[in-house]
Amino acid sequence: MQIIHRVSEMQRWSDAQRQAGKKVAFVPTMGFLHEGHLSLVRAAKQAGDVVVVSIFVNPMQFNQQSDFAAYPRDDEQDRRLLSELGTDVLFNPDASEMYPDGYQTAVEVEKVSQPLCGAHRPGHFRGVTTVVAKLFNMVKPHAALFGEKDFQQCVVIKRMVTDLNFDLEIVAMPTVREADGLAMSSRNARLSPAQRQTSLCIAGALNTAQQLVGQGERRAATILRAVRDTISGQDGTRLEYASLCDPDTLEEVEKVTRPTLLAIAAWVGEVRLIDNRVIG
Ligand code: PAJ
Repeated sequence: MQIIHRVSEMQRWSDAQRQAGKKVAFVPTMGFLHEGHLSLVRAAKQAGDVVVVSIFVNPMQFNQQSDFAAYPRDDEQDRRLLSELGTDVLFNPDASEMYPDGYQTAVEVEKVSQPLCGAHRPGHFRGVTTVVAKLFNMVKPHAALFGEKDFQQCVVIKRMVTDLNFDLEIVAMPTVREADGLAMSSRNARLSPAQRQTSLCIAGALNTAQQLVGQGERRAATILRAVRDTISGQDGTRLEYASLCDPDTLEEVEKVTRPTLLAIAAWVGEVRLIDNRVIG
């Protein structure tokens, strides 16, 4: 596996692959890799001839400096995992080259960035779309893979790619879960054993909602009340939002009459977790 730090070198490598007729598949990450990330890398190997994985903890998308500072890192293990999977290039740009002195440009997707996480993390998606647009210009992929664990992120990036005419395909992949249902996340490592148990109420709430719809319940308000009760019933949790919305526009619905996104963000102690499921 080749490790590339410099932007110009990354661009030259991709130009050469493209000239050789190879399809470049790309997985952007912030590192501290787990099985969720690795599932994207495996899918990338299917989607392309060569695979680039980036690791860059993007300061611009953290709306709290403490969250950025606390973001877990394990460079050595990440390198080993990616190399074992047969990744061709690990792209690990420096923050100083990503955002040099005098940097002043941002990419903002206006509407679908607003609700859900956008409403609670001001500037977050602006940071995501800016760095992803930059990474696309550096890696020049034919296809880029993202996880539905971050469903809104997928919607926002698809919109950006359409609106800005990026010449690449976005592939959204299903959420990888622990055996007991908790969605894998780099943040799970920050949960105490007791909080780890408590956090199961989030996946539990998604299942409860699906069961209600299965039994014929259509009213969003009733379903969301059950979701709130499931999560608030656990000590040490705080529900940030639970929303039933259209999976394409992210506009809230009042009735679940077709496949509908149930998106949840909840705090377990000091750890913010998100999860979602398309129900109906
Ligand atoms: P990060 O949180 O490291 O996630 C990288 C990719 O892995 C994202 O597409 C995310 O949706 C996916 N992923 C995370 N957990 C997953 C799971 N349990 N199952 C399936 N996929 C999962 O998302 C980011 O980084 C950043 O915002 C980034 C896009 C890299 C821009 O900085």
